Amino acid sequence: MTERKRILTGIRPTGALHLGHYAGALENWVRLQHDYETYFLIADYQVSDYADDIKRVRDAVWEVALDWLSVGLDPEGSSFVIESMVPEHTELATWLGWFLPVAMLERNPTLKAEMAAMEEPEEGQERKPVPVAFYTYPVMQVSNILLPRAHLVPVGEDQLPHIELTRETARRFNHRFKEVFPEPEALVGRVARLVGTDGNAKMSKSRGNTIDLKDDAATVSRKVKRMYAGPPRELDEPGNVQDNPIFLYLDAFDPDTDAVAGLKDDYGKSGVPNKVLKDRLTQVLNDRLDPFRERRAYYEARMPLVRESLEAGTNRMRIIARETMEMVRDALDLNYLGKY
Ligand code: TRP
Repeated sequence: MTERKRILTGIRPTGALHLGHYAGALENWVRLQHDYETYFLIADYQVSDYADDIKRVRDAVWEVALDWLSVGLDPEGSSFVIESMVPEHTELATWLGWFLPVAMLERNPTLKAEMAAMEEPEEGQERKPVPVAFYTYPVMQVSNILLPRAHLVPVGEDQLPHIELTRETARRFNHRFKEVFPEPEALVGRVARLVGTDGNAKMSKSRGNTIDLKDDAATVSRKVKRMYAGPPRELDEPGNVQDNPIFLYLDAFDPDTDAVAGLKDDYGKSGVPNKVLKDRLTQVLNDRLDPFRERRAYYEARMPLVRESLEAGTNRMRIIARETMEMVRDALDLNYLGKY
């Protein structure tokens, strides 16, 4: 049997996952999980508010694992990994920090935006100083990807700068020492960035504009009713499809693309009441989410199975982690005491 290539990807345990995560990344994970040897990481080092809110991070680890199981990630065919339980992540990150210039971190647009949001928060949000460990999290992420010597990293669009850092680090390391790390490719999902229900650029928990994978049918219906649907319009007034984000959602999730094309046509010509669009969207989303809800209920009633998934996957990662660290020790000549 030829060896399968490896996937490593991950998510921060900050709370419930939403449709943006699904269309931007998770859907790819589900699709690819059996074509690759796959590691899904819960990046519990990579949160900005450890010191303030450990309990929330702990709860979110379970939340993320349940969301993964509910969308159909297979905990036996793939590995669910808890980052902090594989100590080699920190060891490797320490070495890799030598191959990543500070200037590259400082240019990283994702990190820049996140730090700015912490230091100059939006209205109503608390200002937080940036902890050292947050500033260096991209190095940890490079270590996450290189530790299993991954080939492919399916992620949301905002993660691309981190993958670029990873490729650069792998190149430098391989070039200077030994060929240890593949240069991993990024893969972005079908819908690179899903707008929020308020029409804002991005669905995100801190903006309160998400539809969560675990929302029940009534919650989805309520959120869709309140969705921003473009500038005010008379019921039968034609509108601009581009101005109405409901269409972005239909494009993203409605399997009947012909029907959506027909609606767009009518919308521009004779006008379609927003209620018609919203009722359709509610139905479409609930059809998508129903199988997730069923799987979630199954696992919620069997939490020890969730724990076993996390333990088994973490143990599988530990094996590769030790193997990679042996290669790194060899490349960096770390077994130097053996000389005498
Ligand atoms: N930074 C990612 C996020 O915010 C999470 C993450 C941590 C990750 N380690 C990773 C993603 C490794 C891909 C690969 O969602």
